[in-house]
Amino acid sequence: MELIFATANPDKVREASEILGKGITLIMPKKLGYKGDIPETGATIEANSKMKCQFIWNKFNKSCFADDTALEVASLGGAPGVYSARYAGEGHDSKANIAKLLAELEKVDKRKKNIRAARFRTVITLIHKGTLYTFNGVMNGTIAEKESGEGGFGYDSVFIPEGCSCTFAEMSENQKNAISHRGIAMRKLAHFLSQL
Ligand code: IMP
Repeated sequence: MELIFATANPDKVREASEILGKGITLIMPKKLGYKGDIPETGATIEANSKMKCQFIWNKFNKSCFADDTALEVASLGGAPGVYSARYAGEGHDSKANIAKLLAELEKVDKRKKNIRAARFRTVITLIHKGTLYTFNGVMNGTIAEKESGEGGFGYDSVFIPEGCSCTFAEMSENQKNAISHRGIAMRKLAHFLSQL
């Protein structure tokens, strides 16, 4: 089965291919000639995931899926949330986002409980034969005091998953995928597709 993955990120496609297995051939929009941006201007990750998927469906009318992920810190009112990619402002990189996150956590009233509790949440939207389906994945954890590890991307170097003693960035890609928010959501998608 062929499926368009509404992303321009080849790393995500490689990770998804491994989880979805040989029966699913993933196609990136750029391979179909679309090199523009895929809009993600929603107020929530649910809205963004749906928006990206709907956009690609409307363009190609072929089965497709999109994902959107947020890091949510309860003591910061759920921030960075839907703004995870641009927490430190447009054009800033992950280092700047992490620096802002650690600085914001320092400002939280120390009398509050579980100040560093956090979670990653992924929402995948699939449109197959015109019907829309959603798959969720959540990974709880805590934000470390400082960065550790060289692997991964984004906030991986400060996120310690629940039950672990190291950050996502200190794990191998396989170890991370086995427990991560996106891995969980992606395996739900894989299970659904295997039943079609
Ligand atoms: P996206 O929805 O996958 O584009 O993710 C939004 C932002 O969240 C990214 O720019 C990353 O900074 C961050 N992010 C997403 N997934 C992960 C992850 O697995 N580890 C660390 N950061 C992530």
